[in-house]
Amino acid sequence: MVAFSAMKICVIGTGYVGLVAGAGFADMGNDVVCCDIDQPKIDGLKRGEMPIYEPGLDKLVVNNVAEGRLSFTTNVADGVAGAEVVLLAVGTPPGPDGSADLKYIFKAAEDVGQALTGWAVIVTKSTVPVGTGDKIEAIVKKVTKHEFGVASNPEFLKEGDALNDFMKPDRVVIGADDKRSIETLRSLYAPFTRTSDRMLVMDRRSAELTKYAANSMLATRISFMNDLANLCELLGADIELVRKGMGSDNRIGPKFLFAGPGFGGSCFPKDLRAAISTGRDVGYRLEILDAVVAVNERQKKKLGEKILAHFKGDLKGKRIAIWGLAFKPGTDDIREAPALVLVDQVVAAGATVVGTDPVAMEAVRKQIGDRIQYEENNYECAKGADALALVTEWHEFRRPSFERLKTLLKQPVIFDGRNIWNPAELRAAGFTYYGMGRGKSA
Ligand SMILES: NC(=O)c1ccc[n+]([C@@H]2O[C@H](COP(=O)([O-])OP(=O)(O)OC[C@H]3O[C@@H](n4cnc5c(N)ncnc54)[C@H](O)[C@@H]3O)[C@@H](O)[C@H]2O)c1
Repeated sequence: MVAFSAMKICVIGTGYVGLVAGAGFADMGNDVVCCDIDQPKIDGLKRGEMPIYEPGLDKLVVNNVAEGRLSFTTNVADGVAGAEVVLLAVGTPPGPDGSADLKYIFKAAEDVGQALTGWAVIVTKSTVPVGTGDKIEAIVKKVTKHEFGVASNPEFLKEGDALNDFMKPDRVVIGADDKRSIETLRSLYAPFTRTSDRMLVMDRRSAELTKYAANSMLATRISFMNDLANLCELLGADIELVRKGMGSDNRIGPKFLFAGPGFGGSCFPKDLRAAISTGRDVGYRLEILDAVVAVNERQKKKLGEKILAHFKGDLKGKRIAIWGLAFKPGTDDIREAPALVLVDQVVAAGATVVGTDPVAMEAVRKQIGDRIQYEENNYECAKGADALALVTEWHEFRRPSFERLKTLLKQPVIFDGRNIWNPAELRAAGFTYYGMGRGKSA
């Protein structure tokens, strides 16, 4: 019988997705155990220390631990024993050829299979290529005598707003081919979709592809706008006006149409490469996605090229201030962050870089150490700099005191990588302003 009351859930992998999902399911009253192979991470979580920055997550985790609904372990067998739902939320990083590296998923599936104590649905929340569910099924079958289901339930949360996305999803995609798995997952997600039924039940392969399709479409919009922004600079048009003009068409919509320094993060770059690789495996070339990736690679260098052009290619002795290091606001994730590409470019040309970010400085320090200098305060960061480059549009950067900046900067030169400031106002105030796709002088 399918449960209609609190369920026992085990989450394998306690990163951005696993921790948010585990805390979210616990908050709805379920009994959740989160497992990870990373002992320090689990020890920290037991002490109430979050391994990632995600607004509101610490409170949700601490409350649910205190209520006895959420616990952490490195022992998969303890987590899986008696669970009706086991979520796989481990990483699927890119392999050398761009395809998704599934070693963590397969290892987790084997561990879960060995630990099953009765029927459970094993749910892939990680982003995996089409057909992975079939392979998981085969792996688990080999190591257990119990019946089980395998489902795909891709996660669509956005880092920086992950709790909101998880608790109030636009839709829940359930890909499964057996009735018991479908009914169990319907029951699990019912409290999250009370306002209206937003559950889309489909076959497993279609669900697996849906996640790649969604991320590919979003990334396509970004690269399309970046391509247009570059054209705007050659034609003397302003991408911000073009964006509003096209985005107000209901068929297009206003979201994901911002020009910028290219997309980064842990999902779009790797998922696009994996989608391209999936096509290649079956002899199909996804030409649009090839172009989306190529445009993005070019775009990530654009801000650095503008800085180099302004200083005529010579940055020796120049100090460049960077506001925003995370790949987007609201997160400390710096995987494939455009700011790191900019750092490489300007440091290679001889510049000294000083960076600031409300939450990502520790992560950057871990990755690149003293290759750059760090400043907690954004005005201190700008002090004595020959130029200021805005890379991540955190709220606190949106309306700075430009009077103060003018006195602090050695040269009043601004590179606005996110088009958050007004070029006319800044030029009138005596700044040299560069945006992304904002007319001939951009
Ligand atoms: N980060 C996002 O915004 C996001 C959104 C939607 C989907 N996804 C997908 O979800 C998956 C996880 O992404 P993430 O960003 O949460 O990854 P992450 O790297 O933050 O976390 C993965 C965790 O899995 C653990 N792990 C690896 N092997 C394990 C094993 N055998 N047993 C237990 N734990 C194990 C790691 O130690 C790590 O803590 C990826 O496939 C990703 O593409 C991510």
